Amino acid sequence: MSSPGKCPVQVQLMTRRSMLASGATVLVGMGLGCSDKEPLPMTDSAGSTGTSSTDPTTDEGPDPCVVAPDPGAPGWSAVAVDDHPALAEVGGSALVSVDGIAMIVAQPEAGCFVALSSACTHEGCPVEFRSGRFVCPCHGAAFRITGEVISGPTPIPLPAYPAGAVDGTIWIQTG
Ligand code: FES
Repeated sequence: MSSPGKCPVQVQLMTRRSMLASGATVLVGMGLGCSDKEPLPMTDSAGSTGTSSTDPTTDEGPDPCVVAPDPGAPGWSAVAVDDHPALAEVGGSALVSVDGIAMIVAQPEAGCFVALSSACTHEGCPVEFRSGRFVCPCHGAAFRITGEVISGPTPIPLPAYPAGAVDGTIWIQTG
């Protein structure tokens, strides 16, 4: 049974390593029945939320690039790349509001889109996407594309939302 304020359905993501090992299909929870806007936890098939390694290029932890969006399904919202041209470029990012949540969406590698809360978990400054990571210009916090903390004054990850592109539209799951 889920605790109050928690979404009862978790998104199950597999790491590249576990996908290669098992050849299994990626499973994505629908998030139906979530009554709040709390981000869905992103875990791999073993339930891990990743490591504390400071190497932002490591392949450990969940891979946010394997999300299979469900366009039009409850809980999924659309962000058109045409409305945010920077998102068409690898390394590009845009600040968007999705279901009232201030987010930063980025394309860290070709065809991979990630969506995270844009508010730094230290004191709320809007984060920026630079060199494959999210950084806070106020006091220097840095986060992986999964939201995990790399360094900085906060131990709290950036909330991350499952996201994926279909035909020029980025679909983001908020509920
Ligand atoms: Fe982001 Fe302080 S507000 S590091």
